[in-house]
Amino acid sequence: MQHELIRKSEANRRAAQLSEADRAAFTWDAAATALDGLSEGGLNIAHEAVDRHAQGAARDRVAIRWLGRDGARRDLTYGDLAQETARFAGLLHHHGLQPGAHLFLLAGRVPELYVAALGALKAGLTVTPLFAAFGPEPIRMRMEIGAADVLVTTAALYQRKVADWRGELASLKAVIVLDGEAPDGCLSWSEEMAAVEPMEGCSPSRPDDVALIHFTSGTTGRPKGVLHVHQAVLAHAVTGRYALELGPGIIYWCTADPGWVTGTSYGLISPLVNGATMIVDEAEFDTGRWLDILADESVEVWYTAPTAIRRLMRAGPEAVEGRSYPRLRHMASVGEPLNPEGVLWGQKVFGMPFHDTWWQTETGAIMIANTAAMDIRPGAMGRAMPGVEAGVLARDADGSLRECGPGQTGELALRAGWPSMMRGYLGEEARYRKAFEDGWYLSGDLVTRDADGYFWFVGRADDLIKSAGHLIGPFEVENALIEHPAVAEAAAIGLPDETAGEIVRAYVALNPGYTPSQELEREIRGLARKRLGPAVAPREIAFIASLPKTRSGKIMRRLLKARELGLPEGDTSTLETEDTPARSATP
Ligand code: WT7
Repeated sequence: MQHELIRKSEANRRAAQLSEADRAAFTWDAAATALDGLSEGGLNIAHEAVDRHAQGAARDRVAIRWLGRDGARRDLTYGDLAQETARFAGLLHHHGLQPGAHLFLLAGRVPELYVAALGALKAGLTVTPLFAAFGPEPIRMRMEIGAADVLVTTAALYQRKVADWRGELASLKAVIVLDGEAPDGCLSWSEEMAAVEPMEGCSPSRPDDVALIHFTSGTTGRPKGVLHVHQAVLAHAVTGRYALELGPGIIYWCTADPGWVTGTSYGLISPLVNGATMIVDEAEFDTGRWLDILADESVEVWYTAPTAIRRLMRAGPEAVEGRSYPRLRHMASVGEPLNPEGVLWGQKVFGMPFHDTWWQTETGAIMIANTAAMDIRPGAMGRAMPGVEAGVLARDADGSLRECGPGQTGELALRAGWPSMMRGYLGEEARYRKAFEDGWYLSGDLVTRDADGYFWFVGRADDLIKSAGHLIGPFEVENALIEHPAVAEAAAIGLPDETAGEIVRAYVALNPGYTPSQELEREIRGLARKRLGPAVAPREIAFIASLPKTRSGKIMRRLLKARELGLPEGDTSTLETEDTPARSATP
């Protein structure tokens, strides 16, 4: 099972930010000196990420180097960011939006998105970035759960995805439109920003005040609004330095969109807190464009995802080897299992391996990583970060938790108490409490740990689907499908895919009077795509006479998956009745 170890040279080890000695000596209290803080024990992410740099020698350093889709470029220095975010914070206060109000972001990767996020934190609001490719349904659901007070978006996204139902969201007091002419009932970013009085300083938030609310999917029920506090910035600072080798002036590119937690923790907060210069590319993945950016922008540290790595691998070594990357010195990956082949491919074509890292929306920051000084075992996610205690837990017959020995499979758990630990699921206290037991946070991932403390990913303990790094709740997909009049019930599962890791496949049982046809399949798929957006909608739909369910009525998605893949069906003792096997996708 194991590939050959990738050994780090002495020079590598010496250049790394985290040595074994630092690791042993680490405490969060000592690390807290990396932060500036506000007077009287206050803490605000925007101050740590922007203002404190702008007040010092880094004022004229580029904070964000923006690359527009069509070749436009824009640099924002730390000083520029300080001014712009102060304006936006002033704008929010001017419109009566007070600390604690909920701001939602829905836009592509334009500079204003970053200004708005940091400006809102400065003003003490909570920030929820949404993925701009979401369809109207996931957007509406999240803004309802999050009781959005204000939305920052573009004119086109507003018209296409929000305008229809805006009137039904009573909490929503203002919509700010970033570009062009503001539609009826919306404020114009450029007009407001030009007129407003900038805010002085930062809102005096406390370390335990909520700063970010990220939505993540569950297997049942509605998406969960994960609460993160200003204190999380300590974990962003430390992990950026130790797992991603960030530091002042380092040119860094995180390819994730802020609509997902990686794009906020490591595509916005961590690099700025560490004083880096971060590349923001507005465009979507493109082999040539990405390699050009790595080469031409002199990227030193690159944080990306397995799906993108696999796409680059498919393009062949010539594509990568035709350019040179003299400044590149650290590459890391996150979000889904990174195949050993991907790690080795990095070594072969870039002369350095990809360093896998593991974390989740709930953990807020990297918990497990291959840090730069570590030898790499291709296929392993790495070791627990300093200050993080990770365990592998299994249940005894009496239901109590116990720690597994080396090589045994169990659930990955983290000892509660790290700074970026989620502090709640919005409005769902019971669901939040269920995520913790005996002082551990239970991740829902199955892993093994070897004798040297390296963690190996085995799979999810639940039915969540990971497609191109996006965590997708089957329930949300199923809800959209049953809105079609022909659909009686639906089940969504993930099927293995060479590039995306998994793709979403759905099974639908039809209402009386409807018969399976290719046309109907296309129609249902089209509706799902429109409501959910392309990142979440099923790629394939198969008709099935009825869904396998437990006697208590729970859909047995795992059984559908086992049948589809020809795997053992496992324990089916709770299966309700005889049911019909899945028919093929093309009727
Ligand atoms: C789930 C969390 C990490 C921030 C972005 C995703 C999977 C994450 C790895 C990895 C295998 C991984 C897990 C995890 N995952 N990193 N290195 N190897 N799987 O955050 O959307 O909350 O997803 O992504 O299943 O639980 P998220």
